[in-house]
This record gives sequence, C-alpha cells and structure tokens, in this order.
Amino acid sequence: MHSEPVTASLSGPASIDISTFLPDNRRPRDTGFIVDVKVNMQMEKKALDWANLGFQYQRTDSRYSANWSQGSWNEGKLVGSEMIAVHEGAPSLHYAQQCFEGMKAQAAPDGRVLLFRPDLNCERMSQAAARLLMPAVPTELFMHGVEEAVRANYAWIPPYGSGASLYIRPMLIGLGENLGLKPAKEFEFRVFVSPVGPYYKQAGLSVISLAVSDVDRAAPKGTGSYKVGANYAGGLLATKLAQEIGANEALYLDARESRYIDEAGSANILISTEDGVLLTPKSDAILPSITRRSIMTLAAEELGMSTEERPIDLRAEFATFQEAGACGTAAVLSPIGKIWFDGQWNEVGDAGSEVGPTMQKVYDLLVGIQKGELDDERGWCHEVRI
Ligand SMILES: Cc1ncc(COP(=O)(O)O)c(C=O)c1O
Repeated sequence: MHSEPVTASLSGPASIDISTFLPDNRRPRDTGFIVDVKVNMQMEKKALDWANLGFQYQRTDSRYSANWSQGSWNEGKLVGSEMIAVHEGAPSLHYAQQCFEGMKAQAAPDGRVLLFRPDLNCERMSQAAARLLMPAVPTELFMHGVEEAVRANYAWIPPYGSGASLYIRPMLIGLGENLGLKPAKEFEFRVFVSPVGPYYKQAGLSVISLAVSDVDRAAPKGTGSYKVGANYAGGLLATKLAQEIGANEALYLDARESRYIDEAGSANILISTEDGVLLTPKSDAILPSITRRSIMTLAAEELGMSTEERPIDLRAEFATFQEAGACGTAAVLSPIGKIWFDGQWNEVGDAGSEVGPTMQKVYDLLVGIQKGELDDERGWCHEVRI
C-alpha cells in the first residue's frame, strides 16, 4: 500500500512561508538554529527506485554538523557538503577516536515520520564517548541534529509501503592535530542520512547464513559493547572470510574460549529453543542492540514467551535451536538458516530456507510498531515533525 499525501513541490530558502500549503503535521518549526544552506524544502519525493534500493550510501541534500572545542559545543547547523576537511594528524584517523550510531526514520501510513527509540541511540553514543574520552553529545543536541537532518531531507524518505527506509548515521569524531596518543582537542558531531533498502540483499524477512570466525571481534573488557569504529575495521577480514565460503556474515564466538555465541558482524543473535524459550547471548563484548532489547520485551510482554539472556554454548546447545535470527537496525530481523562451524554447514532446526513461526511473529510485531501500523503502547516511536 502506498499513501503519500503531500504532492506540492516547493523549492527555496527555509524562510519562505510554506505553512499554508502543508498539512498540520508537516509544518516547519522555528528551531532557532542557524541554517547556512538553502534547506531543500522540495516536498515531492525523489524519483528513486525505492523498492530496489540496496544498503549503500546515497548522497542527500543536507547534513547536520556541530563542533566542540575548549569545553563547549557551538551552535550546530545544516551544511550542504558531504566532505569533511580533517587535519592529517587527527586522532580519529590514527587512533580511531570516534564513535557512531545507526538509526532509521520510517514513513507511517498516516504520513508521520517515525524514529524508533532514539533516546537509546543517544544514551549509547554517550557511553561510547565516555569510553573513548570524547565529550558527550547532549541529548538536546543529538535529537536536534537527527531531526534536522531528517527534516531537511524529507524528499529522500522512502514512501510508506516501499520496503525501504531512511538510514541515519550520527557520528562523533576527534579532530585537530594530535600526533601523540592523547585525546583530540576538537570534535565534530555530524548526522547524515541515506535512503536504504534491506541490509541483506533480499527484501523483507529473508533467511541468511553465518560463518563462525577464527578472527576475534572484541576482547573481554575491551570496546566490544560500544559502537566505535575500531571494532569494525578488525571485523572486515572476518566478513570477507565468511563471504568466501558463501555466508552472508561472520558469527563471532567469545574471545576467551571460542565457545559462547557473541554476535554477528552487525547484528545481535536471537535463538528460539525446542521448549519455547527466546534466548539471547549474555556477553560484555557485544553491542547492546536496541532491536534485540525491544524484541525481548515484546516477546515476553506481548507474545507471552519465556525469555533468557545467558551465555549460549554454540556446539553444546546447537541441537536444541529451533530457530535463530540476527537482529539490528540494518538487519531488522533476519532468520538464520545455517551456521558454518567446525568445518561444515549446520542447519538450524528444520525450517531450512523457510522463515520459522517465532521469527515471523516477532518480526511482524516489531516492524508493525516501527512503521506506525500497530499501537505503540510503550511510546517507543518518536515523530519528527516535518
Ligand atoms: C556489531 C553490532 N551488533 C548489533 C547491532 C544492532 O544494534 P541495533 O539494534 O541497536 O541497531 C549493530 C548495529 O547497529 C552492530 O553494528
């Protein structure tokens, strides 16, 4: 189903009063922040092949940028250029003093633009910033930056029903010269957006495969539970090796014993067992996925399932797995059909390449709430007023 109520096409500086043309929930707000680019108020959607978008960068009109130096943040603003001029000695380039977030904006059937639990992204970014000795991005600045970037790129938000969404990438990077190993003196908080399709090639609830990696992702007491770039560069090789044997992604076991499931390259793991329990690994080295935390809540409270977060011994418990899934903002919930470990493919349960009933149920519930199709009883969706 497709319902895009806005048809007016308007271009020009943000100061033009366009309110009279717009429905109530699309009126621009006076944000009080400086806008140094002509905000593209083109309300007509871009002519993209929405249903066939991949998960890749698409340049959009504006991005939000704020800078920190000498103990405080400046007034942020929307900027047009996707390029950042960075000093060659910047700590983000040499010592990976940077962190980021991944979120999505979705168009609801009634035309609202929804973010899913953005407060948790903000909180997670603050935790990463503290771990890497970077200044926290205050909640108001984080939310303002995200909302401004979404609003300014309204034309790039995939229409309801297209299967695509607007991926949002907030980032915090250490800038300025610093040859010695010490924290940066300046930082940029930036938010860019890009319309994206499914992370794993097929649309919707597609079955994927994972391959256990010989390469560790994160050390115990390291930075595995923070969304910091350093965790991902080290994982590129694991992903490449996994894909060489035909898997979609790497699956990491714990770095101490190579025994307990940690997570996939860009998603947490969920398992449903023969006795009807929804399990997820407990580990200090994995990213605390917002999608996973939401699914566990929904499974317990809405579907009446027993849920457990505990160490999961892959080899010892594999035979009890009925279904498995990889979950995250990008992956949404992708059922796992088979896992490569100990030199062979091992099929999960008996679903094979079919989607199992548990993953289907939690997917429908989660996605229904995220897209504004189902009641949002917990107030998880945050509307961006356009
Ligand atoms: C390593 C890793 N694990 C898990 C996730 C899923 O987290 P979330 O559900 O908050 O997007 C992601 C993606 O953000 C990730 O990069």
